[in-house]
Amino acid sequence: MPFDQLTVPELTDALGEHKYIADRGLSTALLLALKLGKPLLLEGEVGVGKTELARTVSAMFGRELIRLQCYEGIDMHQALYEWDYARQMLFVRSLGSDEASDDQLFGPRFLLERPLLQAVRAGDQCVLLIDEVDRADDEFEAFLLELLGDYQVTIPEVGTIKAQSRPIVILTSNRTRELHDALKRRCLYTWIGFPESDREVEIVRSRLPEVGPVLANQVVSAVNRLRAMDLEKLPGVAETIDWTNSVSALGSNSLTAEIALDTLGAVVKDRDDLEFASRNIQDVIS
Ligand SMILES: Nc1ncnc2c1ncn2[C@@H]1O[C@H](COP(=O)(O)OP(=O)(O)OP(=O)(O)O)[C@@H](O)[C@H]1O
Ligand SMILES: [Mg+2]
Repeated sequence: MPFDQLTVPELTDALGEHKYIADRGLSTALLLALKLGKPLLLEGEVGVGKTELARTVSAMFGRELIRLQCYEGIDMHQALYEWDYARQMLFVRSLGSDEASDDQLFGPRFLLERPLLQAVRAGDQCVLLIDEVDRADDEFEAFLLELLGDYQVTIPEVGTIKAQSRPIVILTSNRTRELHDALKRRCLYTWIGFPESDREVEIVRSRLPEVGPVLANQVVSAVNRLRAMDLEKLPGVAETIDWTNSVSALGSNSLTAEIALDTLGAVVKDRDDLEFASRNIQDVIS
């Protein structure tokens, strides 16, 4: 699907066909990212479909999804490239150290591609997901700037490698810390909050087509009441889906207090929250 002619409603429909229900704001941000060839930075609550959007976009355009999961302490070697030391060593032994030149040793033959290098090489054949970038540290964020701004990476021993065509790049953050302006400036930004009730019912029904509208509506209302309570961890859309699925798996097509109590662990995942919600179950379901 070429995206230069694509409109916002068409993109929303195409996402919907892949079971991803996007509101106008998100579809617009995504469309602009595609048309302008800029990375899209998604910040938002937990479990609201940030990672899923990248998966859906890759499926929709039939492109490979290359995923870099960020974590504390991640560095260039996990993200970009590594040298295959074991094979370098064997090569040196087979030749004798005098004959093995640096060019041979630090050349393409022994370069192990990690996700960012894979993505630069794959260009417009892939979607690059840089997931949970807020977990990485400042230094790593700075390291990403070259890629995000110029679609190129630099390997000290090899030089700069530029993508021949632009990959679609999606970054996500749970906002455990503020990201730098320099990174944000290179991206289009959008915030994904909890969906409106109608939209959340639509999401549940698209993911669980066997579930009836009554149950879907009841669970979404109950989740919204939980979100309004003073809980430690607010349930995301993923939890709404899990809860609906749990109730349905027990053979029930409506949410009673009893069934809600039995299945609360699908939606509330903190001990104190669980105690609080159990004590107030009538407020949750009514
Ligand atoms: N708009 C949506 N349309 C369809 N499904 C959705 C939507 N939002 C969330 N989901 C569902 O919720 C699940 C969780 O979404 P996802 O893992 O993408 O959340 P996330 O925002 O990346 O969460 P986290 O911050 O915990 O990583 C998905 O597998 C998908 O089934
Ligand atoms: Mg995620």
